[in-house]
Amino acid sequence: MLSSAHAGRRNAQLQVSCLEQEARARLNEYAMTTEVRERMNRCVHALEEVVTSLGPNWRVSPFGSAANGFGTKFSDLDATCYELPEEGKEPEQQQPAAEVLSERLAPLLRKHKSFDIAQEVLHARVPILKLCFEGKLEVDLSCHNTLPLQNTKLLKAYSTLDDRVKELVILVKLWAKDRGVCGASRSHLSSYALTLMAIYFMQVHPKISLPMLPPQAFKDDSHVDVGAKVEAARSSWSCNLSLGQFVLRFFNFYSLEFSWGSEVVSVRLPNRLDASENHLVKLKGRNFRRLHVEDPVDETRNLNCVLGDAQEIELQRALAETYSRLQAKEPVSLGTPLEETQYAGADLASSPGRTVTIKVFEHLLQSCPEEADLPPAIMEAAHRHEAENLINIRQHSLSEASTAASCASSTDEEHGAAQGEGENSPRNAHFRRGNGKEKLRRGSGAEGSPDGYVVAEAARTSPILQMLQQKPDPEITPEFTGQMAGLQLLQMIRHEQPTAEPEHGPIPAQPPAQRATRRTKMTNSIMAKVMQSCEAQNHKSDVEEKVWQ
Ligand code: UTP
Repeated sequence: MLSSAHAGRRNAQLQVSCLEQEARARLNEYAMTTEVRERMNRCVHALEEVVTSLGPNWRVSPFGSAANGFGTKFSDLDATCYELPEEGKEPEQQQPAAEVLSERLAPLLRKHKSFDIAQEVLHARVPILKLCFEGKLEVDLSCHNTLPLQNTKLLKAYSTLDDRVKELVILVKLWAKDRGVCGASRSHLSSYALTLMAIYFMQVHPKISLPMLPPQAFKDDSHVDVGAKVEAARSSWSCNLSLGQFVLRFFNFYSLEFSWGSEVVSVRLPNRLDASENHLVKLKGRNFRRLHVEDPVDETRNLNCVLGDAQEIELQRALAETYSRLQAKEPVSLGTPLEETQYAGADLASSPGRTVTIKVFEHLLQSCPEEADLPPAIMEAAHRHEAENLINIRQHSLSEASTAASCASSTDEEHGAAQGEGENSPRNAHFRRGNGKEKLRRGSGAEGSPDGYVVAEAARTSPILQMLQQKPDPEITPEFTGQMAGLQLLQMIRHEQPTAEPEHGPIPAQPPAQRATRRTKMTNSIMAKVMQSCEAQNHKSDVEEKVWQ
């Protein structure tokens, strides 16, 4: 007979191997493809052509996940252009970034056959042009923004230390996106901050002890032989934990070990330090009891500056929940699976349309938090996260919305490919016809409008709407704009009759009047959101007329 200690060990091994399976499945699904990589390379070359026409000293460099090794096939491309100072000359006063972008680059990009300008975000801390390349790749082009080039080199070096380093970082970002706890524009931590959290964990965990790479070695003017440093770190480090064990320990660390509120996530310092320590005097906001994440190349920058109070609690809760599920040996999702899964409930399994509908309700759940107003069957299914996956549900933020709309075809085409659909499948044919350019011209939200949310919803839900209408391969009609998609959603909700039963018993029957009230309340709430968005675009009367018909 097995001793209880032995049985416990076996159980833990089993748990880790399930986790490893989930991790591998997500990594395979999201892995960068040659096609996407080549598109990114073409895009950088095209940008180089445009940028060098400003003058011989102008350059463009990619940064972020497309360049640091922690990207997926859904990564966007961040790039910045800058002018090198002429040799022997004092650098001249730079023209402000926003002016270069809007007055010099935008006109050139507008003429370029492969670029669309989705949005000009000129008043942000870092002004950017949001572009769409070849109707498929989202691009954020900034100017004079060279600091990220240094952190990109640093992160790239970490990503090459070991496959598990790269894999854990990607999984943490996928997990956070799936849980809705990532995205600076919605007051969550940026992907960049989450990347640093994952690296910090690996550095300070006693059973991992990933070597620290000195950020200053990655500065342009550094004389350190970076290649040798990285090689030395790689060959000196050994760790026999599996990826599954890394994942488990990551959630354990941030749930139980990390001193939330005082400890600083700093990948630049060799030890775990409290925010009050001298080494961290420059860190802004260090006296507040918040999650602190230090930018390794700018010691003053605390990456918690974008994190809202509620969002911080959400993050902490999501980490703890995931860890407690892992402890209870319950399955966890480390990212939104892309391939279609069957819903466990009998009614839903037999009806793809219904599965899709539940996905739509999940969107609504996010945009309309009055949970009580949603039909219980939908709540049940939405909470169990088992009706995912007919679309790529990347979380597009408000500021990303226009690019998202114009690039919607790409992510869905990729998704089609991920599901084993060939180039010529009806689904892909549909996206080929409705390329980003076409949508951009038609889409009313393309000028950086506040109705971005609705436009993003349109981008995300278009395949849903088609399926619901049982038109597998429709032409994109001129009505396919943000507002119209919003209206179609509303109409759909009005006609939806949730009939599915939750797994553990039938839904208690509701009097029809109560059901109607729930639906009306929900519809009105969503309606108000759509109206609000459309109002900002002066389309109110137009929309009102259509909605209330
Ligand atoms: P993101 O947060 O978008 O990271 O910042 P990412 O890894 O590219 O995100 P995904 O994978 O697409 O979701 C992009 C880059 O911008 C710089 C960093 O170089 C980061 O890698 N950055 C971002 C900063 O320098 N500071 C910040 O506060 C945020």
